[in-house]
Amino acid sequence: MESYVDREKVLVTSALPYANGPIHLGHLSGAYLPADIYVRYKRLNGDDVLYICGSDEHGVPITITADKEGVKPQVIIDRFHEINKKAFDQFGMSFDIYSRTSIPEHHETAKEFFTNYYNQKLLNEKKTFQFYDEKVKMFLPDRYVEGTCPRCKFEEARSDECESCGSLYDPSELLNPKSKITGETPKLKETSHWYFPLGKYQERLEKYIDEMNQKFGWKENVLQYCRGWFKDGLKDRAYTRDLDWGVKVPLENAEGKVLYVWFEAVLGYISATKELSEKRVDPELWKKYWQGPDTKYVAFIGKDNIVFHTIIFPAMLMAWNDSGNEQYVLPQNVPANEFLNFEGKKFSKSRGWGIDVIDFMKLFPADPLRYTLAANLPENKDTDFYWKEFQSRNNSELADILGNFINRTFIFANKHFENCVPEVTKLENIDEEMLNQLVEAPKKIASLLERYKIKDAVFEMMSLARKANKYFNDSEPWITVKRDKDKCASTVFVSLQTIFTLAEIFYPVIPSSSEKLFKMLNAEPVEWGNCGMENLKPGHKLNKAEILFKKIDDEVIEDQKSKMGNGEEEQVEQITIDDFSKVHLKSAKIIHADRIKKSEKLLKLQIDLGTEKRQVVAGIAKSYSPDELIGKRIIVVANLQPAKLFGIESQGMILAVENNEGGLNILETPENIEPGTRVK
Ligand code: MF3
Ligand code: ZN
Repeated sequence: MESYVDREKVLVTSALPYANGPIHLGHLSGAYLPADIYVRYKRLNGDDVLYICGSDEHGVPITITADKEGVKPQVIIDRFHEINKKAFDQFGMSFDIYSRTSIPEHHETAKEFFTNYYNQKLLNEKKTFQFYDEKVKMFLPDRYVEGTCPRCKFEEARSDECESCGSLYDPSELLNPKSKITGETPKLKETSHWYFPLGKYQERLEKYIDEMNQKFGWKENVLQYCRGWFKDGLKDRAYTRDLDWGVKVPLENAEGKVLYVWFEAVLGYISATKELSEKRVDPELWKKYWQGPDTKYVAFIGKDNIVFHTIIFPAMLMAWNDSGNEQYVLPQNVPANEFLNFEGKKFSKSRGWGIDVIDFMKLFPADPLRYTLAANLPENKDTDFYWKEFQSRNNSELADILGNFINRTFIFANKHFENCVPEVTKLENIDEEMLNQLVEAPKKIASLLERYKIKDAVFEMMSLARKANKYFNDSEPWITVKRDKDKCASTVFVSLQTIFTLAEIFYPVIPSSSEKLFKMLNAEPVEWGNCGMENLKPGHKLNKAEILFKKIDDEVIEDQKSKMGNGEEEQVEQITIDDFSKVHLKSAKIIHADRIKKSEKLLKLQIDLGTEKRQVVAGIAKSYSPDELIGKRIIVVANLQPAKLFGIESQGMILAVENNEGGLNILETPENIEPGTRVK
């Protein structure tokens, strides 16, 4: 295998997620998990790898989120930078650094590139008219303006383009324009921007992509997108925006203007590497990768990012390199993935459809999720996450195939060979064949991973575990242990070597299980190319075995499915303060609580409302015992029409919220609030 011999210097990046919300499972499948698997494999292979990521912290959507909450954008990015950093960490991402684009190094880097182009006289300044929303005092990006198409009269047309009839027009032609932010009618206002002449690079970009594809095999989906762009012809692109959040345009008379987020975000990869250099007190580190002609740079992204990584970023690097300064490397490959959907529909925050990584990690360990997503990566077409599939990948594959083989082998080694690797005196065909598989499987997997066919590689990993189970069954050690102990020894010996190989080849996908497995084997990983050798010597002492994969019960899965909702837009109607004041919320004190016969959920409460006592039936029996409720100060809806539950009259409703574990917490007031006080 060529890669065992030639060590490569590999720079890997994953798209910088916006710090404008929590990342969900779809993000993981697109740009993060495949990169992490590749990186972990390359490191084991002995390659010199740097893996870079961080938060993308500029752009209009972040300012809109901030406005909605009435806080500064900084508050939003700090919040989601931390949440996403933690989510990635819990998911087992092995970034060398998780940086962010708000750091000073990034602003400097982004300005340096702009200035370089400016000094080369590459950028064209142009005056244009753009929609301006007086109410929020901002120019509106295209996707925040909606109106009626001047040609076909489609009512949801964008400012300069109609999705319905496909026509392009001048924003001044759009009928009945509306700001999507405020609903106001925006005015056209003159502004000026600097444009990057993408068209100038078209020929070179086409040649570059062609050459990379021929040498390194780019994915068909990526090439298709690029061809589409080239066919339309690359045009000038505005490099600046009227906004006060972002990297300031480093020119005089450029007040209120920042660099367009995409023109600086891609440079975030470079600034993140600079930050890493500082952290490692190795100032030349970032140059070694970004400006080393022998660097293999691979950019992992989702399909919506293709043009920025195959066209805009390379053009930016070409433009810099043209100035004669230090030469940057261009991506050698951009293995973009399609999308992962959730139970048959697109992930959608507003429709409450999908699950965020940070929430998933509260429920299950990372490895079963990593394995499930990896086995079903949207490499060539969109795929789906299904709870049921997650359960069966965990139960029937990780636990029943991989885990079971490991268990059975350890039990035999422990019971019959003093928990050591047995001595072997004879190997039969069946044993030789299995040992041969151990040499072949890592080679095949490496060759797939080198070509970014990660899903296929994961299939091969589990195939080896399947073969191992069959080998164990066919060898019948439970019989040979009584009749032919030498043969049994061979089976256990070969099985332990197999576990070693499995521990190593599975490491990129399920790293924490693999680490546990190495601990059980009392061994360390070796270089990938050697992991199919007989790495455990006879007499080697093993450690205590543990269960690596716990089965997931049907109930647990059903519970998650029941929380899914229906994926429809939740229409929350606005109410007036008068509507709200129709609800009489009052503080109260619980004086009595009893179970209700035949009901697991309900409790009968007597409450003190100050001027009166009432009886309320509440569905909190699964979360509270009657005793612990006595004396609690609570909040009730005091003017709710009485109703009968299980034949018992309820004269009000107490307020409670669902907690993380799916139980209920009643809302309590401080001690010093008198029963009967109105809550407003
Ligand atoms: N924030 C973008 C997204 O989530 C990705 C930016 S990748 C970068 O789609 F290269 F521009 F940083
Ligand atoms: Zn139209």
